[in-house]
Amino acid sequence: MASSDTANTAAAAFDPYELKDVVSGSIRDPYPKMHELRRECPVHTGPIDLGEGADIADPNRPAPVTVFGFDEVVQVLRDNGTYSSSVYEGVMGMVMGRTILQMDEPDHRIARAMVAPSFRSKVLERWEEELVAVVVNELIDSFIDRGHADLVREVTFNFPAQVIARILGLPRADYSNFQRWAIELTSVAANWERGVAASEALRAYFAGVMEERRAAPGDDLISDLVRVEVEGSTLSDEEIYSFLRLLLPAGVETTYRATGNLLLALLTDRSQFDALYNDRTLYPQAFEEALRWEPPVTVILRRAMRDTTLAGVHIEAGADIALLLGAANRDERKYTDPDRYDMFREIRQHVGFGFGVHVCLGMHLARMESRVAINTLFDRLGEFTLDPDAEVPHIAGMAFRSPLSLPVVFAAR
Ligand code: HEM
Repeated sequence: MASSDTANTAAAAFDPYELKDVVSGSIRDPYPKMHELRRECPVHTGPIDLGEGADIADPNRPAPVTVFGFDEVVQVLRDNGTYSSSVYEGVMGMVMGRTILQMDEPDHRIARAMVAPSFRSKVLERWEEELVAVVVNELIDSFIDRGHADLVREVTFNFPAQVIARILGLPRADYSNFQRWAIELTSVAANWERGVAASEALRAYFAGVMEERRAAPGDDLISDLVRVEVEGSTLSDEEIYSFLRLLLPAGVETTYRATGNLLLALLTDRSQFDALYNDRTLYPQAFEEALRWEPPVTVILRRAMRDTTLAGVHIEAGADIALLLGAANRDERKYTDPDRYDMFREIRQHVGFGFGVHVCLGMHLARMESRVAINTLFDRLGEFTLDPDAEVPHIAGMAFRSPLSLPVVFAAR
């Protein structure tokens, strides 16, 4: 088993596990309860208890709404006139600033158009070999001789933050500070003051980097953002800080969890592992099925802008609406045997990346990062298996879900 003294050198300056409270929640399986509530009705009003206790309803606000059905979630995300993203202005806006996540049209369309070109799959190709593969290989180098490793602690937890740092063109010496701020910002709900302090530290740090890039642009995302122009508009410094801060929770937390969930699915069903190991062209369906089966982000939010009705349920103007992506992705009205991970299932559509105008901007990057990580692990470790002497790992969490460790053994090289 891995221990802190054997943890990889690339992350040695900072052990992210110091910040364990980030790795959220102990709920192992919220899905039976979600099935039960969806069978009652795909849309519920009032507080819901999925195992962590129900939030106390504010009597001065419209009753909150929770959506459990696939079609109903898609209907909400399609109708962004009725269902607004401004709901994120509260907690998230306070630490991130005004980001595209909380904007409605037309502001959202213009702001997204400015940042979107950097995230097209064609543009990402330049990062695949020289950047993502390099990061993953370095992490693997640190344990390959040992014959065992914890793939969460030693690979998945570290690689997305390092990839983002390199995409932003940050100097290597700054990585451990950057990763610490990224995790502290992401875990703001667990520790508000620490999260706010990290947000301010990042702003000050990015201010210096942006000045340098204006003077001497490079081949990196920050240089792209300071130069971009759409329909005569450019991004203000404040908009750039906010976008960069959003990338941390949006791009780091999610990708590490998604890769861990896919690995867990493969490691606990050998036939699925063997299928992908022997035929890497199956990767797209293996990854999408992992996002359907265990989306790392299980809930997103909207706010009703007017009185409306969904699945026959009345929704009051101003009501906050929780869209349970996890429940939608396991809707038995859409999927056969929905609780099973099966990369060969016929219906592959899912809402793990959201849907509609706010659909995940980083989805091509996430897919590529995870593919490179899995392929590199396959190529270098061979047919690794779960460590028979370690506790069997499992997925945990509520709003964010993933395994906390993945102890594996392999033939040492
Ligand atoms: C498997 C990994 C990922 C998952 C499951 C995921 C999931 C999501 C979801 C569900 C949304 C929609 C939020 C909403 O509508 O309220 C979203 C939006 C977003 N994601 Fe991702 N994400 C992932 C990776 C990434 C990466 C790698 C980046 C960038 C580095 C990224 C950047 C964004 C941004 C900027 C938005 C906001 C888009 C907008 O509002 O127009 N995500 N993501």
